[in-house]
Amino acid sequence: MLSNYIDLEKGILENYTENVIRRASDMLNFYQDNEALEKMIKNGNPTIYEVYAVTHEGGGELSYAITILHPGKVGNEYFMTKGHYHEKRDRGELYIGLKGNGLLLMQKGEEIRWIEMERGKIVYVPPYFAHRSINTGNGNFVFLAIYPGDAGHDYGSIAEKGFAKIVIEENGNYAVKDNPRW
Ligand code: F6R
Ligand code: ZN
Repeated sequence: MLSNYIDLEKGILENYTENVIRRASDMLNFYQDNEALEKMIKNGNPTIYEVYAVTHEGGGELSYAITILHPGKVGNEYFMTKGHYHEKRDRGELYIGLKGNGLLLMQKGEEIRWIEMERGKIVYVPPYFAHRSINTGNGNFVFLAIYPGDAGHDYGSIAEKGFAKIVIEENGNYAVKDNPRW
């Protein structure tokens, strides 16, 4: 497929070839406040984020995906994606903000960066950096990601330890804090 459409208002990608819906129950142990997460699972198990992708898996090819990250918090921690390294660590990625507000957290070894995302902003995720998105706004945070077809996703080490920083709400604003589990 050589061309496609995104509904920029709703963040809906047409003709996607893969999609993933992550609910609260898919995020066990990702947040500090497990009790709050369990309560949320019992109270309707809401969707945290949705991903719609067009994939081309060969080396040298490009895939792309829209993520719709819903607004909300688990305890005082904002809704976020699981986060991953690329299986092939030397594969970079481009993120383009389409709607809402968020942060892109990137980490390579002990080096950690976070960049605010908004509509029209392009962020480069260099090779070797794990990356996670966080919705710090009140509405959906929607972005487009473009990545090498053979990048792959490695969720293992992030699922175990998370990132060195967590993003919480403090006095109505976001605050980036040290991860006590790190
Ligand atoms: C692809 C990429 C994004 C994420 C998506 C969901 O390499 O970085 O399309 O896959 O935002 O996040 P994860 O994959 O961490 O659940
Ligand atoms: Zn990625």
